[in-house]
Amino acid sequence: MAGLVVPTRDSFGRLQDGTEISRFTFQNKNKVTVRIINYGGIITDILVPDKNGEIKDINLGFDNIKGYEARHPYFGAICGRVANRIAGGKFTLDGKEYQLPVNNGQNHLHGGVKGFDKVVWEARVDDDTLVLRYVSPDGEEQYPGELTTEVRYRLTNDNELSIDYTATTTKATPINLTNHSYFNLAGQGYPNLDDHVIWIDAFTYTPLDENNIPTGTLAPVSGTPFDLRNPTRLGDRLKSVRNGKGYDTNFCVGGRTGNLTRVASLAHTPSGRKIDVFTTEPGLQCYTGCNMAAGVFGKGGVEYRKLASVCLETQHYANSVNQPNFPSTILRPGQSYRHTTVYKFGLTS
Ligand code: BGC
Repeated sequence: MAGLVVPTRDSFGRLQDGTEISRFTFQNKNKVTVRIINYGGIITDILVPDKNGEIKDINLGFDNIKGYEARHPYFGAICGRVANRIAGGKFTLDGKEYQLPVNNGQNHLHGGVKGFDKVVWEARVDDDTLVLRYVSPDGEEQYPGELTTEVRYRLTNDNELSIDYTATTTKATPINLTNHSYFNLAGQGYPNLDDHVIWIDAFTYTPLDENNIPTGTLAPVSGTPFDLRNPTRLGDRLKSVRNGKGYDTNFCVGGRTGNLTRVASLAHTPSGRKIDVFTTEPGLQCYTGCNMAAGVFGKGGVEYRKLASVCLETQHYANSVNQPNFPSTILRPGQSYRHTTVYKFGLTS
């Protein structure tokens, strides 16, 4: 299988209940290394060289399974069944009202109390692909229908980490899957994002109300701190975003749902490291770690601070299930949910 990057498997330790967790390591010919565990489908490490060949881990996370099993802000994880917020945890589907658990103030966030980030996925390696599969029972976290989800991770020798999501259901259900990796291209644990330059190809974004729920309008980014259509240095910009709180914002990168399109790029000037984001999804939640609690210590014992990492979460818009004018997140029996996202690691030219 020349040219394919075939992952190897080892143990990442045991959960408190004794379940052994596997870790899969992809390493390509350019010394890009990506490690993924079958707990939460979590990407634990992404090691990439800089312009001088110096390799650093650019992905926040923990050294061991204990860190991931405890409460944490979804480092590296697959979020589902519905990533992002559902207002009040409520929705009505085909005339029936549902009340999901609320785990973020008044709202349901990232799939609830035990979302897809906290479950053990069946794992198998198929040539160069790590296939993770999870069957979410009917009624899990109060969602309707048994939902069978597969997430396929691959790393190519072109430094593309691709994530393919598919799902089918036995009853109509909302679904919105994403990966919640936090990046700092200076190396995980670096205390700020100042020298990062971001570009997001969005003309509109979804403004939020006081409960962090989209108001329902698609507002033009023009003339606001949400205009990232030209590459923008975060050190200059973050202070003017939401009174210095930074981005926790859904950008409408769509109108192109279904076509894999380059929608965002994050570059770090001193090291030259760069990530290009391609997706089939209509939204990109850019989250600059604004809600990071004090005292979160990650890999190597480093403290993870606010505004020191970026998530580029490709997904549908928050609370879509309650907003008929947003692209639909409803999956029905007989249909297939599909979403592809590619993070391509490179160097600035
Ligand atoms: C949300 C934030 C939240 C963070 C960690 C992000 O996807 O947009 O509001 O604080 O996840 O839970």
